[in-house]
Amino acid sequence: MLKNQNPTKTIAWQKLQKHYKENQNFSLKKAFQKNQNRKEDLSFSSNEIKVDYSKNLITNKTLNLLVDLANECQLKDAIKKQFAGDIINTTENRAVLHTALRDFKANKIEIDGKNIIPEIKETLNKVKVFSDKIISGELKSYANKKFTDIVNIGIGGSDLGPKMVVESLRYYKNHLNTHFVSNIDGDYLQELLQNLNPKTTLFVIVSKTFTTQETITNANTIKKWFLSQEFGTKKEDIKHNFVAVSTNHKEVKNFGIDKNNTFTMWDWVGGRFSLWSAVGLSISLSLGFNNFKELLLGANQMDNHFKNTNLKENIPVLSALMSVWYNNFYQIETEIITPYSQYLEKFVPFTQQLMMESNGKSVDRNGDVINYQTGNIIWGNVGTNMQHAFMQLVHQGTKMIPVEFIGFEESLYGNTDHHKKLLANLVGQSQALAFGKTKEKVHLELKTKGEIQKINSLLPYKIFTGNKPSTTIIVKKLTPKNLGNLISLYEHKTFVQGVIWNINSFDQFGVELGKELANKQLSS
Ligand code: F6P
Repeated sequence: MLKNQNPTKTIAWQKLQKHYKENQNFSLKKAFQKNQNRKEDLSFSSNEIKVDYSKNLITNKTLNLLVDLANECQLKDAIKKQFAGDIINTTENRAVLHTALRDFKANKIEIDGKNIIPEIKETLNKVKVFSDKIISGELKSYANKKFTDIVNIGIGGSDLGPKMVVESLRYYKNHLNTHFVSNIDGDYLQELLQNLNPKTTLFVIVSKTFTTQETITNANTIKKWFLSQEFGTKKEDIKHNFVAVSTNHKEVKNFGIDKNNTFTMWDWVGGRFSLWSAVGLSISLSLGFNNFKELLLGANQMDNHFKNTNLKENIPVLSALMSVWYNNFYQIETEIITPYSQYLEKFVPFTQQLMMESNGKSVDRNGDVINYQTGNIIWGNVGTNMQHAFMQLVHQGTKMIPVEFIGFEESLYGNTDHHKKLLANLVGQSQALAFGKTKEKVHLELKTKGEIQKINSLLPYKIFTGNKPSTTIIVKKLTPKNLGNLISLYEHKTFVQGVIWNINSFDQFGVELGKELANKQLSS
């Protein structure tokens, strides 16, 4: 169990409130003028990831107080308990051990006296053997043909994680075409099925519970299509073309899937943290097992950084504390994540589920209604596209919205011209947000351009107030290992926020009522 501590009752919280009021006039411009080394002083790295917090509205005192808050909320103890397999998801009486799935060095992690490591190794090996055989063509379809297409059928964590990774690491992909079906929208499914050949398509049904309406409806429609007369297929053929990842082996069997083609999951892995388990089967199938393993190793690197680095230099901790600072003291409700890589287009939807399903809670660990802000609204899109969409509001609107920029030092194909421009835009945006453009500068610019007659009418519209916060994450290159690091960073950031907000980040009862009412609607 984690400590039950209302954060607003801590000494650090009171001090932060006072500090926030005293710091109203904080200016990023002045802070940089005063300390030429601000960027270096407020940048931290781990393996191939560097994070620059210098463009946040913080002083050393802010950071110290935020770290005090984390200490008063017993964050270190919480980290230890999570990694050790304590039952920290108390409402569901579960441990939270997605980190064990990527800990290749661990020999023993126990839940209720049972070592879970042998099962993890066995399942991972099953993923390896299966994906190797599908990729090489050794394992064939019911029609004795090599597979050309994979369809992942799942929703939420059983879709977003694998889809995001497969899309993000497209560069490393093999010959298998990979498709994802999540929505219950039958038209979308029809469009996909029209272009698939049952003789060469492998269906991977991913559902922890194997009861999720969308997934089971889609899977049943696909099964019906697969068994339709025109293909001449029989029930026994299902075992060649359908596999499942689930904890519910009974329902998987009822669906007609072979035991050998059933990949197990565990209740101590939450859906939104599950891509590291057999839920990542589509990742291993489309990128090859070695790349899947690299992803896991990368996540483990960030786990070790998170576990072993002191809080003041700990990247997931600092990133979480920045959110707490803006959310709870500035009363800012939203946060932008913007990767400067088209490959990472699905990263924002993935982090939306991760952070909003985890921390969208209003009852604390004691069962009491919370009287302070918790989970932020996460949104964003890839740069540079978003510069031409929503950034106007961030630069000149009335709201303050902290931004997290993510960039890669190197491009994958080595197109330096494009890549320089991509990164220059990232830097340009963060500078514009932080330092803005003064009235004097706008005046001078219009004058230099010979547009003196326009000064009176245009000047106020061209001013950028600046002093808008952002964090910049720079990763060396988009590799499976570095993506693993990055995802793990956001997972731990989410966890730290939950610890401080005194909530359980690992249940999701808020998704239930809508499902119930939809079913009621259907039966009425
Ligand atoms: O949206 C609720 C949720 O339970 C998610 O947490 C989960 O990732 C998703 O539904 C899918 O659940 P399952 O894997 O059991 O089909």
